[in-house]
Amino acid sequence: MMRIAVVGSGYVGLVAGACFADFGHQVILVDNDQQKLAALQNGQVPIHEKFLPELLDRHRGHRLTFSGDLHAAVAASDAIFIAVGTPPTEEGHADLSYVESVARSIPSALDRYKVVVEKSTVPVYTSEWIRKIILRNAAAPDSFDVASNPEFLREGTAVTDFLYPDRIVVGADSERCAEVLRNIYAPLTDGSYYQRPDAIPGPDRAQIPPPLIVTSTKSAELIKHASNAFLAMKISFINAVASVCESVGANVQQVCRGIGTDSRIGPRFLNPGIGYGGSCFPKDLKAFRAVARECGYEFRLLDEVMLINEEQRHRFLRKIRSALWTLRGKRLAVLGLAFKGGTDDIRESPALLLTQTLLAEGCRICAYDPAAKARAQEVLHSQIEFADNPYDAARHADALLILTEWEEFAALDWNRLRDQLNDPIVIDGRNLYDPEAMAALGFTYYSVGRPAVSPEIPPLSTSAPRKLKNA
Ligand SMILES: NC(=O)c1ccc[n+]([C@@H]2O[C@H](COP(=O)([O-])OP(=O)(O)OC[C@H]3O[C@@H](n4cnc5c(N)ncnc54)[C@H](O)[C@@H]3O)[C@@H](O)[C@H]2O)c1
Repeated sequence: MMRIAVVGSGYVGLVAGACFADFGHQVILVDNDQQKLAALQNGQVPIHEKFLPELLDRHRGHRLTFSGDLHAAVAASDAIFIAVGTPPTEEGHADLSYVESVARSIPSALDRYKVVVEKSTVPVYTSEWIRKIILRNAAAPDSFDVASNPEFLREGTAVTDFLYPDRIVVGADSERCAEVLRNIYAPLTDGSYYQRPDAIPGPDRAQIPPPLIVTSTKSAELIKHASNAFLAMKISFINAVASVCESVGANVQQVCRGIGTDSRIGPRFLNPGIGYGGSCFPKDLKAFRAVARECGYEFRLLDEVMLINEEQRHRFLRKIRSALWTLRGKRLAVLGLAFKGGTDDIRESPALLLTQTLLAEGCRICAYDPAAKARAQEVLHSQIEFADNPYDAARHADALLILTEWEEFAALDWNRLRDQLNDPIVIDGRNLYDPEAMAALGFTYYSVGRPAVSPEIPPLSTSAPRKLKNA
């Protein structure tokens, strides 16, 4: 059992803290947002994540406590995980002021050897800065180490991603420090967690036990940025291919199957759509670009990845326009506002950005999202109507737009939806349905990188039924 402080109880900190408690460690979750703290202490779950309510119920008040007292939490812990936000600055750098403010509070509580762990996504050299800040505040050099332990969880499957990771990366510049991290993750790496009857169930293709990769801190910092940049590149690549497919009348789903079965490429993240979003990819690409430039390398490939992503939304808007002719005054049903399925997070959500553009074009919008309504309301206020289900959203709408790949959208009652709509037009930004089936149901159906179909114009080519992805 280790004593751990996790500073920042957002998507990453809360999940990490709850999972560490589930390993058997004693965890103090620290946050400076008093409202969030009070909610957590009162048994509320501030974010929508599968299995998180169960874990919080299991450990709240026993192995998992919540506190606003950073000094006391650091003093009581062997390892301090920094999981605060690192939002982008105007120039695209990561704003590390929250990380710095936590680092400044640590030295006064260093009464014995402790490891300070970067869990937040930070640019290379951050661990060196954290070390300098702690030393400048009168800490003894051998009283602490700084490690990098980047987090690869995906919102929507955050708990299972944390408990069943593809790999655990530990950046540590001393063996003593690496050993602390090895001990923390031992229940996963020695497989004992997975044998417990109360273990949270894992995904089908989980790697058990997961490998723990020890690197230098700089390499670990780079691994996180490079991983996100690579994944974003994969998304932009297939979106660019989808655009070519649209130009020549090919079917991107067939192309994906053809290239994704090459084991060197793999099928995951080859999901054409309206582009990536969320709190990570957009900001991490900018930060990686900025840090590379500072270090003397112009990473122009990343510019192109970001440009294609931006353009993808504009292409989709053009598609909506070409389907509806004029937009002013049109009533649209929007299914999905979260940046991806399974989460209530709307940060940098392409669905939300598109909705805002459509509002600016004079459309009237009624939206349904299974989890993101409250957060979207904080941004959109009364500019749009919110429905409690897809069918109410579709009532009297001139078209239905699918903007987020929620699992439940794969099982809609299309006959019922058709009856609600003014015109049976579906514009799918996530390629959730089989065009042929949609045409057979009486819809004019537009998707990404596949020919449009309508009941009068049968599809050019058939496409295999698609399973909902969750990558
Ligand atoms: N969200 C993801 O899917 C994800 C995945 C991997 C990595 N990350 C990275 O993890 C980090 C955190 O992301 P998040 O989505 O959890 O952010 P978040 O905004 O949801 O949570 C950050 C939390 O830190 C708290 N905080 C800020 N300053 C503090 C301080 N001085 N003391 C105590 N608490 C403080 C905030 O109140 C907030 O609750 C970011 O660097 C992000 O890039 C996020």
